Amino acid sequence: MVNCRVKSSKENMFSTLTLLPADPIYGMQVLYKADPRQEKINLSIGICLDEQGKLLSFKAIREAEKRVFEKCYSKEYLPISGYVPFIEKAEKLLCKGHKGLFSAQTVGGTGALYIARELLVKSHIQKVFIPDPTWPNHRQLFGAAGLDIATYTFDKLLEAIPNMPRGSAVVLQASCHNPTGVDPTKAEWQKISLAIKQQGLLPIIDLAYLGLGGGIDEDTQAIDIFLHDEHELFLCTTFAKSMGIYNDRLGLITIKATPERLDVLASHVRSIARCCYSSPAAHGAFIAHELLGDEELKNMWLQELATVRTRLQSQRELLYNGLKKYGCKIPYEHILTAKGLFCLLQMSQDQVIQLREKTGVYIALDGRIAIAALTPANVDTIAKGLCSV
Ligand SMILES: Cc1ncc(COP(=O)(O)O)c(C=O)c1O
Repeated sequence: MVNCRVKSSKENMFSTLTLLPADPIYGMQVLYKADPRQEKINLSIGICLDEQGKLLSFKAIREAEKRVFEKCYSKEYLPISGYVPFIEKAEKLLCKGHKGLFSAQTVGGTGALYIARELLVKSHIQKVFIPDPTWPNHRQLFGAAGLDIATYTFDKLLEAIPNMPRGSAVVLQASCHNPTGVDPTKAEWQKISLAIKQQGLLPIIDLAYLGLGGGIDEDTQAIDIFLHDEHELFLCTTFAKSMGIYNDRLGLITIKATPERLDVLASHVRSIARCCYSSPAAHGAFIAHELLGDEELKNMWLQELATVRTRLQSQRELLYNGLKKYGCKIPYEHILTAKGLFCLLQMSQDQVIQLREKTGVYIALDGRIAIAALTPANVDTIAKGLCSV
């Protein structure tokens, strides 16, 4: 009798939950893997591939990892806020010599954004502006805590700022905007920074493609400008793409605040991390520390990043020429000037699905194409496919 009652109350426990749709990016990978066609092509995920279409592995990172194994780094728990020698080097790389910062290692860029979101919740900052379009997880992540999500048109930020209520947070992408590849110029960032300061907004800068747009200095110029203008801000960085260490889940949250608030915020970062994953994984931090601590290795990595940027540009040209050759009806001129791993084509979801079904070419549902996954061998099929829908 007692058992029956326990069972029935358990059955009811989750009755308010309904089935959620698959994640727009990971869901696509499941569909792609299940597709039996030999000729299928995956342009739906933001990873760097080599000329053969295999995951790009940086030589400098492999060398750094070899040293990590040789040195037998400890398997002890890291502190809650991560591996300090890595954090110091990473903060220097991203924030140059700026002072008054606190950084903690996080579980990828998503982990950093999660901590930023929890800080908003704890601080009763209710409204968050995200770009439209943006990385789909921004909406999901900030929305999941019941925050009030509003959008601004990604290239009309300056015009949108005066209408944002004081005390709101605004999410910015530092470089290689996902999904458009279109970033503000330095002069535009300067105006944006001043307007945000004047409006009393909290910038949350998301840096996911360090070194893949215009090099380290150009890709961190927004950070430099905002720190120079003495904003209180959250910077959320992932090293996944820049170092090719996706599943090592290496990220960083950096906070700039007034000295009296910085310690308070740091204590909350540690508390959020402790309750969520306790302390981060070490391997990626050890690799990045070896890399950033050795000038020769670091230069080798910077050189490899430059090669990736050159290759991305030639991949853009390949696609552009292919679309021109087959007389594409979808506008595509902007492909050449966009930066980073992606470009966005104005396609309806129906066209994206048609493309997938007819030709086996997978792109994200919003029309985002991973330029990084184009190769001389697959570009003709892709261009022909895009011109057929
Ligand atoms: C704009 C943007 N921010 C954050 C992330 C998250 O990075 P991570 O995979 O390290 O969680 C991504 C990943 O694709 C991204 O594109």
